Amino acid sequence: MSLLGHTVNSRVLSAQRSHAGSLPVAPRPLAAQPRLIVARGERRSANRSKWATLEPPMPAADQAPLGDAQAQPLSVSEQIWACADDLTPVFSEVDRLVAANVRKVQRAFRDHRIGPHHFAGSTGYGHGDLGREALDAVCAQVMGAEAALMRVQFVSGTHAIASALYAVLRPGDEMLAVAGHPYDTMEEVIGTRGTPGHGSLMEWGVSYRELALGAEGRIDWEALKTAIVPGKTRVAHIQRSCGYALRPTLSIEDIEKAVQIIKAQDPSVVVTVDNCYGEFTDTREPCDVGADLAMGSLIKNPGGTIAPGGGYVAGRADLIGRVAARLYAPGIGIDAGGVSGTTLRTFFQGLFLAPQTTGEALKGGRLVAELLHRLGYVAIPAPGVPEVWSMITAVQLRSREGMQAFCRGIQKTCPIGSYISPEPGVTAGYGDEVIFADGTFIDGSTAELSADGPIREPYVVYCQGGTHWTHWALALEGAITSLNEANARN
Ligand SMILES: Cc1ncc(COP(=O)(O)O)c(C=O)c1O
Repeated sequence: MSLLGHTVNSRVLSAQRSHAGSLPVAPRPLAAQPRLIVARGERRSANRSKWATLEPPMPAADQAPLGDAQAQPLSVSEQIWACADDLTPVFSEVDRLVAANVRKVQRAFRDHRIGPHHFAGSTGYGHGDLGREALDAVCAQVMGAEAALMRVQFVSGTHAIASALYAVLRPGDEMLAVAGHPYDTMEEVIGTRGTPGHGSLMEWGVSYRELALGAEGRIDWEALKTAIVPGKTRVAHIQRSCGYALRPTLSIEDIEKAVQIIKAQDPSVVVTVDNCYGEFTDTREPCDVGADLAMGSLIKNPGGTIAPGGGYVAGRADLIGRVAARLYAPGIGIDAGGVSGTTLRTFFQGLFLAPQTTGEALKGGRLVAELLHRLGYVAIPAPGVPEVWSMITAVQLRSREGMQAFCRGIQKTCPIGSYISPEPGVTAGYGDEVIFADGTFIDGSTAELSADGPIREPYVVYCQGGTHWTHWALALEGAITSLNEANARN
């Protein structure tokens, strides 16, 4: 049986192939695969929005029977290629998405007549920098927004999101998080955790409320219908991707529905969308469906793995003016911000490449889900074409040691720092210890292949990025080998 309309034959055929580093093997059928596990029902753990399945635990990787009783089990490499063969139709779906988004980005470049003169760059204030202005305009068009700031001065996604929130919220206002608890690094921005005196939103007199997720980790639509307090709720904040929560990524249709429900209660509420990891996973973006502001990082999807840093905020022109005043200073505004020509060129080129690199990451994620599922682990989204494309694939590894072993194996197969053994540790912005496998060219660039997660129940590693899915094939070989070694030791 295959989820993808493929018969088991393709898997058998793939097992006959000779793969790099492995000898040709005799054809042999695979045993029945473990049954599909879907995150059904929910069990909310004591801290934060973490969603565990109600399914019983499956056997660990080293116990999973792949291959029939008489035959030799398939090597890890063979299992990976068998998965890849079965994923051909899924990869083809991804290619269609990529093509639609390449068309969209190219059209924006054409409409704004992007040429080499836009790569000259600027210094100091950067007044009159044609390239920066054109980049903002291209970003706005691609994001379905009136205006945008795509700037190197944003340090990260958290910085872009914080800039947008501080731009809109004023003392006495309320911020409502619509899709459960926001990403970990937002806690210090909002003020639910952090250092007193650092000026969180709550310290500035903004109140904060959170709408808990409903069934299956989705937005609680019934609760949302009455959640807005007109005149008080100023921002309704929606996080598109799962972040470090074991919940599904929101679809653009979900975001559209949420915007409509929110605006029906009070049209003046500003809907902000944390779009980190969401860009180019659909053909529409949050501002296309009515969001007022969308924010993200250029070392994630829209930087195409080559932007050396930066972030963006796109949305309503009046609000983008406020965000610029917050990012720089009131009075300096949108027309400043020096940026070197080298950086500008990588921003343009990265944005053009972004649909493709996002597509590679989506394929890598499907490979992760397919393989880990066959080995008996819970992967979200589950194998196959997901309901919503997600840049992040969560894998429940059930223990700290499992997370460490997985990340160790990934790191070994990264181009940079392959000699490093990742350990859980304290990281700025995070409340829990976090482990990162990210042997990337650009520091912290999770658009390049990466796997990371907070060390807390239910011990989930979040896999994302990858400039090419075949790197995931290699990385998974490292991760599963490392997991098997750890399981054998315990
Ligand atoms: C959904 C989401 N929002 C925000 C962030 C924070 O982004 P950054 O690490 O660039 O600050 C992340 C990071 O992974 C995320 O997953």
